[in-house]
Amino acid sequence: MRDKELIQHAAEIIKRGGIVAFPTETVYGLGADAFNPLAVARIFEVKRRPSFDPLIVHVANPADVKKLVKEIPSNAKKLIERFWPGPLTVVLLKEEDIPDIVTAGLPTLAIRMPSHPMALSLIKESNSPIAAPSANLFGYLSPTTAEHVQEQLGDQVDLILDGGPCPVGVESTIISFLEERPRLLRPGGVSLEEIESIIGKVEIHAIGEERPHAPGMLPRHYAPRTPIVLDWDKKNLDLLEDKKIGLLAFQEPKNYLKFQSIEVLSKKGDIREAAANLFAAIRRLDALDLDLILAEPIPEVGLGRAIMDRLRRASTKGEIN
Ligand code: TXA
Ligand code: MG
Repeated sequence: MRDKELIQHAAEIIKRGGIVAFPTETVYGLGADAFNPLAVARIFEVKRRPSFDPLIVHVANPADVKKLVKEIPSNAKKLIERFWPGPLTVVLLKEEDIPDIVTAGLPTLAIRMPSHPMALSLIKESNSPIAAPSANLFGYLSPTTAEHVQEQLGDQVDLILDGGPCPVGVESTIISFLEERPRLLRPGGVSLEEIESIIGKVEIHAIGEERPHAPGMLPRHYAPRTPIVLDWDKKNLDLLEDKKIGLLAFQEPKNYLKFQSIEVLSKKGDIREAAANLFAAIRRLDALDLDLILAEPIPEVGLGRAIMDRLRRASTKGEIN
């Protein structure tokens, strides 16, 4: 089938209450009609996601937000104008008719307009906003290729639309507008610097701080099976002599030492490229039956903030020993 027919077919599935995995510029999503609570319930079931974890609703037109929320504060408007379509999610007070299962009973709704052409066509053809979490099992890394989705959820979803690898590679940035000051709930595809250049200072949520507003904010989330260690010292590598170790390197490492396998996120040290490669690289290491993955820290500027956030959440705290 050609792309256009495939998307029409996918939209038919959504309209009938089915669930479809689809590409976005950030990661693959698992979508259902946001106004069909039974369809949305199936997403929670398939992902084995706890029902207290609300979903992001995806729209194909900025004007659609008005119908879904009570009001749009001026700072939210500014960010929407600047970054949509794109990897930015805004959290606003929801309208009554949004099904509770979408927002996990919260009075708020997370919304974004993705820029991936397949995602936009799917939402338009479905004639309804699409509620979609990342298309992975709860607690695991988000998928950035159709194959990743196939491996984890393949036989349980009605269709997987393949749009190739996701160009951004980390999830959207989430900003909440419920308090006086905008709050960063999750660093992501739009950098904090870019956001603050438009609306000024944003409150930042440190990991583990107070009750999580978003389970994606839980200290340990996005975790692979193999322990990832972020705080390590080259000097201590001798202690790991008999272990199978993988290295998740930012740039080409100068010293290969005794790693079983090395994944380089960006040979030239480009942070955007590193973000785009991050989850696929971790998955490849995770498939090797290693004892440990050592991850190199990445400069926390631009998308580096989102990368480090995901690495911290995927990592095992503490020293290697
Ligand atoms: O890039 C993305 O955002 C991808 C693509 C598919 O759009 N989606 C994604 O969805 O990452 P998910 O469900 O894996 O992560 C959404 C995060 C969760 O941590 C959830 O708790 C939070 O957004 N969230 C959703 N609704 C919220 C709300 N009303 N208030 C606060 N956090 C919310
Ligand atoms: Mg997710």
